[in-house]
Order: sequence, then structure tokens, then C-alpha cells
Amino acid sequence: MSDDVKILTARWGKKDSHTLASYRADGGYAALEKALSMAPAAIVDEVKASNLRGRGGAGFATGMKWTFLPKDVRPRYLCVNADESEPGTFKDRYIIENDPHMLIEGIAITCFALDIHLAYVYIRGEFPRQAAVLEAALAEARAAGIIGKRLYGKADFDLEVHVHRGAGAYICGEESALMESLEGKKGYPRLKPPFPAVVGLWGKPTIINNVETLANVPWIVKNGGAAFAALGTGKSGGTRLFGVSGNVKRPGIYEKPVHYNLKRLILEDCGGTASGRPIQAVIPGGSSSPVLRGDEIDVSLEFDAIKAAGTMSGSGGVIVMDDSVCMVRVLSRVAKFYAEESCGQCTPCREGTPWMEALCEKIESGHGVPGDADKLLDMANHIGGFTICALGDAASMPVQSFVKKFKADFERHIAEHRCPHGDAAWGVSQDSRDAVIGGMRS
Ligand SMILES: Cc1cc2nc3c(=O)[nH]c(=O)nc-3n(C[C@H](O)[C@H](O)[C@H](O)COP(=O)(O)O)c2cc1C
Repeated sequence: MSDDVKILTARWGKKDSHTLASYRADGGYAALEKALSMAPAAIVDEVKASNLRGRGGAGFATGMKWTFLPKDVRPRYLCVNADESEPGTFKDRYIIENDPHMLIEGIAITCFALDIHLAYVYIRGEFPRQAAVLEAALAEARAAGIIGKRLYGKADFDLEVHVHRGAGAYICGEESALMESLEGKKGYPRLKPPFPAVVGLWGKPTIINNVETLANVPWIVKNGGAAFAALGTGKSGGTRLFGVSGNVKRPGIYEKPVHYNLKRLILEDCGGTASGRPIQAVIPGGSSSPVLRGDEIDVSLEFDAIKAAGTMSGSGGVIVMDDSVCMVRVLSRVAKFYAEESCGQCTPCREGTPWMEALCEKIESGHGVPGDADKLLDMANHIGGFTICALGDAASMPVQSFVKKFKADFERHIAEHRCPHGDAAWGVSQDSRDAVIGGMRS
């Protein structure tokens, strides 16, 4: 199968690609028309057959999630997760900006398949431009009779889609915190079970899917689930968007088969490190995914394969670091993010994440004492798995993997009472610092 199939990025860069006229000129909404001629259950079957897995982080099978809706409870809701706050992740914002109608078509087909009449797109507060593009596209779709009182102007089915802007909290990307926030409450994650598909928004069954996940649905309906499955391997179908940042020659978004090789992506597609120096480390799926050493990156990015390699392709955010980067400094920055973004509901996370940040800073600044690296590991081991939501795991996994894989770096900081990478407080060259930290902000 060719590595060049483009599902999500096919129209990016075209003039006015965000408009309804442009989308229609390229055959847009033909999949919705086809879907409306199908039995709703047959659409769900196609999505199941496609092996589409969630692109929001956990890689859960989309079709299977849809079948968890209880048969006899109405209303049901759809929440589209456009919070995209995991450091290193930048793809959903570009789907919305470049091809909002593809997402709207995916939402419309999903709602028709699941008998949902109200959908919310929960979009990160820092994306005002993308929110405006999406709102304009929804207005176009409403005016054209695609959504609104009669779906696609003909079906006896009404569908409304609202855009809800978040207020810049990472935790509101967690599905149950997202629903709390939508309900007007503080974004505190809920205990699961019950899962949102059973008890969700306002206590009603709710499907929550990532933007990229739903943007694939029109292609699946148009070409069939089997064709999508054939683009991938094992239990993962299709292509996905990998956002590569950090120390590479050609950072950016790459649409590749879901099982693409990580090393190939970095060396061939991104041109290797910008500095020409060896790759020291790669975070393969957003800042929460366990780090890989440079000699461990010859691995498939497919969900199950990369899990077997001890990490995850999560949200597709690949962060590359060359050997000039101070790994303790990077971990300090990552730990600071999670300490800042902990919602404070669970004690281990609320108390533990600032402790991990402080200990990382202490080691990085040359004030660590023997045993501090193990103490850091011990703290992480008492947070991950002990919290209501997975932010505790997200904060722990980088600490566990950085300390395990780069222990010598931590110990050198402690033994030499300074950052061995030199160069001011950051301990990394200016170029690397900007590349890595810039990637984390995106
Ligand atoms: C702390 C935290 C933050 C998350 N942030 C996002 C996010 O910004 N976008 C997203 O799609 N999923 C995010 N998720 C995952 C969602 O909870 C959920 O699994 C996902 O939206 C489901 O969609 P999918 O099955 O299509 O991937 C986050 C999870 C956690 C624990």
C-alpha cells in the first residue's frame, strides 16, 4: 500500500479550502448523501470494519465505542474534542482551519448513524481563529440546508452543532472534565464507570471523539471500511497526522499510514536533526508518552506495536531532541506543565506534581543530592494509577521514562553540582532550547 494516501490533508493549501464552495467542488458532502441512503446501523458497521481508532490519545476503537450507547435512552449527544492541549500536539487546529467542512460532514454522518440531534465542538480557548473558521463554516452549512432543521435538506432528521470555547485548561481535554465544563461547572474529571457513552452530558448517553477521528468518517463512508482498514495494519486502519517538532530539519505535520516507522519519519521525511547531531531522544506521542532513546526509534507508530515497545503514539505529537539537549531540563519543563495543569481534585496529583517539578528543578540547577533521581521515580510511582483521571499517568510516565533511560544524566548533575550541558540556567544550547521548548508550546 502506498505511503502517500492523503485523506485528511488532501485539500490543505488549496485556495479557500475552508469554504463550502471549495469543499463541494472537490466532492464534499457526497459521503453524507450516501450515508443518508444507508441504514444507520450499516454506517456503524463500516466504521467498525475500518479499524478506525481514536486519534485523541488512547487509541480506542471508534466503532466499538459507538456501540456502547444504550439502545433505548434519548436524547444522546456528541462531543467533539478540539481541546488539543497536550504539549507537542498540533493537528486538530489545522484540520479545522484548512478543511472545517470535512469535520462537519464527519459530525453529520456520525450523528445520523447514532441518532444524535445535538453536537458540541469543545474548542481550546487559545484557538480563536480556528473557532471563527468553524463557526463560519457551520453558518454556511446551515444556510445551505446541510445541518439544521432537515439534515442535508431532505432527511427527516434535525441536527444542530454548537461551538463551545474552552478557557485554556488542559484538563478540559479529558472527556469527563470536558463535559463538566460544557455543563458550566469547574472542569473536574468524573469517576468512571459509568462511561460517557452510558452516562454523559447532563446524565445522558454521550459519544466523545477527537476532531481527527471524526474527520476520517466521510472517507470511510465513501470508500468503505475495508479500504480504510487496508491502509493500516493489525487492528489499526487508515492514515494519521503526525506533528513533528523539536530538533529536526523539516518540522511540521505529516500524514502517513497509521503504522509508519518513527525513524523513517524523522530521518527521511523530516530530514534528521537540524544540527546534524545524533538523535538523543524522541517523545513519540505528546509530552505524556514515555520517551524513547535515539537507539530505540526504529519502531512502528501503530498503537499496539509501539505499546509493545513500551510507549505510545498517543496524540501523534513527535518531539525530537539531539544530543545537545539536557534531558533533566526537558523533564523539568514537562513536569512544570503537569504541575500547572493538575486540576487539584486528587491528592496524589495535586501534591505530587509540584513536588516532581521542584525536585527536577533542584537536580537541574545542581542542588540535587545522591538518591534524588530514585526519589523522583518513587514520587511518580505513587501518582500514576492513583488518580481519578489519566492526568496522573500523563505526569508520571515522562518522569518514569526519563529517569530510567537517562539516569546517568541525572546522576551527573548531582555529582557535578551543575548542569553538565553548560550554557546558562537552561543547560542546553540556545537553538536546541528554542526548538524543544517551542515544540512543547505548540
Ligand atoms: C488530561 C487529559 C487530557 C486530554 N486532552 C485531550 C485533548 O486535548 N484532545 C482529545 O481529543 N483528547 C484528549 N484526551 C483524551 C480524551 O479523554 C478522550 O479519550 C478522547 O477525546 C476520545 O476521543 P477519541 O476516541 O476519538 O480519541 C485527554 C485525556 C486526558 C487524560
